[in-house]
Amino acid sequence: MTAPQRPASGPATVDAVVGGRRMRRNRRTDWSRRMVRENTLTVDDLIWPLFVTRGSNVEEAVPSMPGVMRHSVDRIRAQAEEAAALGIPAIALFPNTDPELRDARGSEALNAENLVCQACREIRAAGLPVGLITDVALDPYTSHGHDGLMEGETIVNDETVEQLVEQALLQADAGSDVIAPSDMMDGRIGAIRAALDANGHQDVQIMSYAAKYASAFYGPFRDAVGTNTTLVGDKRTYQMDPANTDEALHEVELDLEEGADMIMVKPGMPYLDIIRRVKDAFRRPTFAYQVSGEYAMICAAAQNGWLDRDRAMLESLMAFKRAGADGVLTYFAPEVARRLKG
Ligand code: PBG
Repeated sequence: MTAPQRPASGPATVDAVVGGRRMRRNRRTDWSRRMVRENTLTVDDLIWPLFVTRGSNVEEAVPSMPGVMRHSVDRIRAQAEEAAALGIPAIALFPNTDPELRDARGSEALNAENLVCQACREIRAAGLPVGLITDVALDPYTSHGHDGLMEGETIVNDETVEQLVEQALLQADAGSDVIAPSDMMDGRIGAIRAALDANGHQDVQIMSYAAKYASAFYGPFRDAVGTNTTLVGDKRTYQMDPANTDEALHEVELDLEEGADMIMVKPGMPYLDIIRRVKDAFRRPTFAYQVSGEYAMICAAAQNGWLDRDRAMLESLMAFKRAGADGVLTYFAPEVARRLKG
């Protein structure tokens, strides 16, 4: 037996080095790349955050979030209809409260006629096949911009939780499907679950902002809801230290024990490691929030011609799927949905 003759150099040398394992074979053609693809992004992965503002027939641009608008209650319905038409499973509502209605106690959060409650009723009345997620926290309603009540310099936990419970009940009464507490007070998930159950809202879900970090990436959102100007100090006594990861697992564990149906990690892209750890540890419905600053970075770079907006958008969202997220709250939602529809 004689071995086949090979040239002394060239491809045979490479084969010897890689042992015949040529990773690029599977990448040669589009069909093959599609065939070996491990993760997919679909419209079912999207949650669309929307901003509600006062007035009628108002569509107001948010300068630090190009393409994002604040909508008056009468205009929000059209957005929900668009979400439904695009097949986006759910929308998440955030209010830009009239500055005159903000006070130290965030009283407007307990007004059954506040922007979010009105928007919920408006959308419910339209009977759309879209989930309605509402934010529970006091920051859009307080004159100091904090998510909780203040006593002196301190954000007081338990008094805040009592008020969050009332806020959640009003939202559920107004037709919210999913209560999403973003405040990071201790014990609020258990308290809200108990109150919902005691008031006939057993079927209302809770998506907890379980691992929410004290992040610089919320800046443009604070423009959108008007808290950049109100916020006194920072949120480091309740939101998490960006240096920690074990603590995120502890937060998630507690929220699940207290009855959260779904949990969230926030921000998104700088915290992909947290999403992966949370998913691996608990195997529960896990969501990521691609926050305003992440959106703004991609938009700003694209506006400068430094990034391809479309590709950066899709790649950033695929990263969440790869990290283990079941879905993503993203301001790109309608754009991605349109893009995925072709
Ligand atoms: C506050 C809240 C914030 C966001 C959602 N809910 C910001 C904050 O903690 O100040 C940020 C969302 C985003 O940046 O897109 N309860």
